[in-house]
Amino acid sequence: MTQTHFSCVDGEQLDTETAYRLLVGCVAPRPVAWVTTVDDQGRVNAAPFSSFNYVATSPPMLAINIARRPGSGDTKDTARNIIASREFVVNVSTEHDMEIMHQSAQEFPPDVSETQALGIDLLPSRHVRAPRIASSPVHMECKLDQIVPLGRGINTLYIGEVVAFHLSNQIYDGTRVDTVAMRPIARLGGPYYAGLGEIFHRPMLQKPPGGEGWKPR
Ligand SMILES: Cc1cc2nc3c(=O)[nH]c(=O)nc-3n(C[C@H](O)[C@H](O)[C@H](O)COP(=O)(O)O)c2cc1C
Repeated sequence: MTQTHFSCVDGEQLDTETAYRLLVGCVAPRPVAWVTTVDDQGRVNAAPFSSFNYVATSPPMLAINIARRPGSGDTKDTARNIIASREFVVNVSTEHDMEIMHQSAQEFPPDVSETQALGIDLLPSRHVRAPRIASSPVHMECKLDQIVPLGRGINTLYIGEVVAFHLSNQIYDGTRVDTVAMRPIARLGGPYYAGLGEIFHRPMLQKPPGGEGWKPR
């Protein structure tokens, strides 16, 4: 169906709130990186970030955009820990964990561990100090590759190299990740989340690096 009426909003002079509202409404659904880090005292921090994606395959790399806190302009605990330790873990957030993942976005004081306060069970990582969230079916251990300050200073992109994937045998058969069984949760605009919904299949038109992707059975 051809759209006939559009509002055109110029981007350059937009205030942060309007730009944010437009971006999170238009760039959706977004995967949620549930990021674990440790501070210099060994306290574990967990927080969700949906301005997130994979950005490279050789080696595998992920990128997370972490904003300064609105109002105070303070650096978020996750960003501070990544800068200091140069390590983090991205845990895939699922429908099963949505509630507790959402709660972990609260502004806890820096000396309070979200994982302790919320009773989130952890597993040790292999290559980094930050632990993994036990209930998540996928953990990606990352070493910081680059920090890229963006725009007028509110946002910074943290790019990490995935040095280990941990994949639950509930969702991984040794070759493919069964994304449907994983039940990832996605963030929409405003206070909304979504599950996967209907799945569509079309044969690949170019051969991707990993061959044909997972097909619904
Ligand atoms: C689903 C979800 C996605 C979020 N995505 C982002 C994001 O991409 N970037 C960001 O800076 N904050 C994001 N936030 C807000 C942070 O999680 C929040 O500021 C949190 O308090 C940061 O915790 P920390 O100070 O322990 O790092 C998101 C919150 C939720 C609930």
